[in-house]
Amino acid sequence: MAQKPRRKPEELRSHRWYGVNDLRSFGHRSRTAQMGYTRSDYAGKPVIAVINTWSEINPCHTHFRQRAEEVKRGIWQAGGFPIEMPAMSLSEPFQKPTTMLYRNLLAMETEELLRSYPADGCVLMGGCDKTTPALLMGAFSMNLPAIFMPAGPMLRGDFQGQFLGSGSDTWKYWAELRAGNIGEAEWKGVEDGIARSPGHCMTMGTASTMTSAVEALGLTLPGAASIPAPDSRHAQMATLTGKRIVDMVWEDLKPLDIADARAFDNAVTAVLALGGSTNSLVHLVALARRAGVPLDIDRFDTLARKVPVLANVRPAGKYLMEDFFYAGGLRALLARLGDLIDGSAPTVNGRTLGENIAGAKAWNDDVIRSRDDPLVPHDGLAVLRGNLAPGGAVIKPPAMEARLLRHAGRAVVFRDYEDMAARIDDPSLDVDADSVIVLQNAGPRGAPGMPEWGQLPIPKKLLQQGVRDMVRISDARMSGTSYGACVLHVTPESFVGGPLAFVRDGDRIELDVPARRLQLLVDEAELAHRHAAWQPPPPHFTRGFGTLYLKHVTQADQGCDFDFLEAGAATGEPEIH
Ligand code: FES
Repeated sequence: MAQKPRRKPEELRSHRWYGVNDLRSFGHRSRTAQMGYTRSDYAGKPVIAVINTWSEINPCHTHFRQRAEEVKRGIWQAGGFPIEMPAMSLSEPFQKPTTMLYRNLLAMETEELLRSYPADGCVLMGGCDKTTPALLMGAFSMNLPAIFMPAGPMLRGDFQGQFLGSGSDTWKYWAELRAGNIGEAEWKGVEDGIARSPGHCMTMGTASTMTSAVEALGLTLPGAASIPAPDSRHAQMATLTGKRIVDMVWEDLKPLDIADARAFDNAVTAVLALGGSTNSLVHLVALARRAGVPLDIDRFDTLARKVPVLANVRPAGKYLMEDFFYAGGLRALLARLGDLIDGSAPTVNGRTLGENIAGAKAWNDDVIRSRDDPLVPHDGLAVLRGNLAPGGAVIKPPAMEARLLRHAGRAVVFRDYEDMAARIDDPSLDVDADSVIVLQNAGPRGAPGMPEWGQLPIPKKLLQQGVRDMVRISDARMSGTSYGACVLHVTPESFVGGPLAFVRDGDRIELDVPARRLQLLVDEAELAHRHAAWQPPPPHFTRGFGTLYLKHVTQADQGCDFDFLEAGAATGEPEIH
């Protein structure tokens, strides 16, 4: 990447607010003085927006109040002027109906905060699932110098001498409770021990997947994504991140200088080698479209055929993110991928990704496998197509029982989540272990917000018979911490008249993961008849943000962004009057 000439103070964006000698600048300076700063604190210095998604309702970001101080310390030390700007916190455990409904709202907020205030650069503080893509989507569209500070995973969960993994062990023990194998006392023990420190989920869920993808994209300092949140090295990383952004402003090093096609391939490769979350398809496609980089879901499938899964981390593997960090973290994993990574890609520290991972070692060969001894040789994710999903669907083969990779069975259909919740455990439900469970109307517009309902529950009577996996199909997403033979993101979704809407009880469905096929075995004339009789359901919202969402959200294969936010002519700088 060609080095740009170092910028001068009067070339800073913030100079328009602070540096000129007019009435408006007087107002900006006098109001900065009101906050206790003197001119020497900011004059001629890069103004760094610290976009912080801390909130008392977000347990994954509990430590971000303190980390923001550490980021700001680094900014001061490097000669910048930090301004912390709180932004909407998308709290995965609490926000209803789903944080995904609001990802684009945080992206818009990030972009507009950066545009409307005197920011020369920004530190983006996120980690809990949707916060990471949202902050970056907004930063890509604004394209000011930006660096990402990941929240870091929480410590391993603890219960009766066993490690517990976020989400994954919740689903596991919930199934055991429903099957009658554990009681309320054990269940309470899991509740108290599964989340015992600040930080995001510590399985290879969406949070760990996306922060790692962002590091592989080149948008964090090397090693940032793997450090557990409570570790003192996480605090050190926050300060180093604050220091670095100031130089990035002087160097005019922007996200779109970094996030090119090589970088996105590296991010997808990292996701696959991590056994990462299916949600990464939606988020990385959305990010790439913001960056103007061609990336579609088929690229994931192409790379999946040659990228081995090396991270032995739940839900695909055995360990947790704390183990992954002690074993060398993402740098070691990327180094082990060798020529599967394009080391020439640039990164925020001004070095290439190859330079950043050179010499990184894995300290535990069981946690970070070698290419000679992978956890899974390939197909960390698989993109399916067929008459049931003409726009594509995704499945995570390493997290399902292998006997179901090729499977045909008769459909048991639920028209929406409420229908499923009401009937799934009904002893009279006509279902057996070979059935294919189908959930309709759980997609971007149908649910709405494409919630993480895709790990459809196994009927209680089958759990009691010992069944722990079945083929399940929906247009929903699935938590990255979930597992099972769950076909997700079926596109187009049923709510807009995709073929999933026309499946009926008793239809045969064929899943063939090696052939990447998902087929509804109903003849075309009958499907055309059902299509003609189909009526679109009424919209979920008639006012407010929801109506904007329903009008503009794209389908899963397009990233579920708003159509008007995708790459287009840059929005101009605001007038300063
Ligand atoms: Fe925040 Fe899982 S709940 S990352």
